[in-house]
Parts: sequence; C-alpha cells; structure tokens
Amino acid sequence: MHCSRGLELEGFLIDKAFLGGGVYLLRFETKELLPEILPGQFFMLGPHRWKSDPFLLRPFAVVDWSENDVEFLVKVVGRGTKDIVSCERGTPFRLRGPLGNGVFTATRGRSLALVAGGIGVAPLLCAWKFHSDVVSSFVFGVSNRDWAGVADWASSKVSGLTVASDDGSLGYKGTAPDVLKKEGDFIDEIWACGPVPMLKAVYGTFGGKSLIMASLESRMGCGIGGCHSCAVKTQRGMLKVCHDGPVFDLSEVFLDELI
Ligand SMILES: Cc1cc2nc3c(=O)[nH]c(=O)nc-3n(C[C@H](O)[C@H](O)[C@H](O)COP(=O)(O)OP(=O)(O)OC[C@H]3O[C@@H](n4cnc5c(N)ncnc54)[C@H](O)[C@@H]3O)c2cc1C
Ligand code: FES
Repeated sequence: MHCSRGLELEGFLIDKAFLGGGVYLLRFETKELLPEILPGQFFMLGPHRWKSDPFLLRPFAVVDWSENDVEFLVKVVGRGTKDIVSCERGTPFRLRGPLGNGVFTATRGRSLALVAGGIGVAPLLCAWKFHSDVVSSFVFGVSNRDWAGVADWASSKVSGLTVASDDGSLGYKGTAPDVLKKEGDFIDEIWACGPVPMLKAVYGTFGGKSLIMASLESRMGCGIGGCHSCAVKTQRGMLKVCHDGPVFDLSEVFLDELI
C-alpha cells in the first residue's frame, strides 16, 4: 500500500475554464516541486481567504499533473465549490496532498474497464493516463447534454471514450454500467467512480464476476486520518476514506451504508 500524509503546499490558480454542467477545469502552479502522484490520490484545497464563512479545505481528485502544476475538475455543488470556482487567476491557494493510500494500481486481470459517472470521471482520467495500455474500455456516463463540454474535453484526452447519457441526448442512451455490459461479456477488473447509485449498479451487474475497485466520496474534515468524518463501513470494520482509500475493493464495502 502506498503511504501518504501529504504536503502542505502553497499554490496559485493559473487557469480556469468552464466546461459546462457546472464543472470547471482548474489548474494550479505550486511553488514547490510536486512529489509523485498516483491515480486516485487527491488534494484538500481552498483559497487562503474564503469569500464567506471560514471553510475547511475541500477534497478533489487529481486529474493531471507535472512538475509543479496540478489540474482538477470542480463541480459546483455548494458554498465551498462555488467559492473556489469564483476565484480569479492568480489567487493564492492552500493545497494539502497528495493524499490517499488506496489508489488505482496496475491491473492484475487480462481486461480492465473504467466506468465513470459525472464528476467521477476526474480520478479515472488520471488512471487512464497511467494505465491506458491495459484499459479495454472507458465509459463515461452523464445525465444529459449539459455535460457535452465535459464529454468533449474528456474525449480529447481519452481515445475511444464511450459517452452515455441517461436521457440519450448525448452519446448512447443508458447508464454507464448498462453500456459497459453491452461492450463486453466478461471483464476481469473494473475501476469505477461516480454517484452511489452508479456504484451499486456496477456491483449489481459485475459483482462476483469482476474485481471492482471504486473511488469513494465522503465528506472530509482533515483528509489525513485525524477527524473520523469520512468513516465508511467495510468487511474489515470502519475505515477512513481519506487514509484507507479513497479506492476500495467494492466487495468489501457495505454499499447500503454509503450516502
Ligand atoms: C476523495 C474525494 C475526491 C473528490 N474529487 C472530486 C473532484 O475531482 N471533483 C469534484 O467536483 N468533487 C470531488 N469530490 C467532492 C467534493 O469534495 C465535494 O463536492 C465538495 O467538498 C463540496 O463542497 P461544498 O462546500 O461546495 O458543498 P457543501 O455546501 O458542503 O455541500 C453541498 C452538497 O454536496 C454534498 N457534499 C459535500 N461534500 C461532499 C463530498 N465530499 N462527497 C459527496 N457529497 C458531498 C453535501 O451533502 C450537499 O448535498 C471529491 C470528494 C472526495 C472525498
Ligand atoms: S477526513 Fe478526517 S479522518 Fe478522513
């Protein structure tokens, strides 16, 4: 298992692009050189000065990185994310990371598929970059056409990306697990990230046949194992998403306890 408690880094927002669907692509330059980052790892981040309340840093999966810049997709869902995406280029940020000890590691099977739902595409884009040589298919499921800009941008990074939408207004009609089922009879291993209903559907369809490794989301206070706010119930007892994950073998997780 990789072991990381992360670094406290100073960074600046250097690029911001709105992709649609409430999603922004943000790029930060860090003063220090970044250590190696593994797919699935994340940073806790936020501006030095929040615009409204004093907030805790928020967790975001690394999409891409180089020596001293790092890229994230941020979907606006509440006050913290709204504050983050409203920052101007040049705004100083705190970045704590890279965090997460459970990561997407090279497949043990013969056939590896990636399944993303909505903003869950972020860590899988990083996984694709590292492991594209062993990925047989990558399905990106979204709700509707509002995600067209995100899908186009992701398609420009991933050759052969399959896009699906719930209402059929973008790509194939259907959920990502449905589309993946049509693509292949048997898949040895699946890496997944997305909303809980999608993870349940992936497990319902492929559980017991394929090894399913999923990056879980939970509310996080510290990101480094100190506050217990991210606990998740598993066959191995209560584990912390920030410290023991965020990537877990889905067969070990009590899916009905996830929110
Ligand atoms: C390991 C990890 C990686 C993540 N990667 C990304 C990413 O790449 N891009 C991205 O946009 N988001 C990502 N998230 C989710 C992101 O951290 C939350 O959306 C964000 O913290 C919400 O902050 P807020 O202040 O805007 O929302 P709040 O105002 O605190 O809450 C608004 C709504 O979002 C829900 N919510 C808040 N925090 C979370 C959370 N951590 N997980 C699920 N629901 C939440 C609340 O229940 C509420 O319904 C990730 C979360 C984790 C744990
Ligand atoms: S976020 Fe504090 S223990 Fe996981």
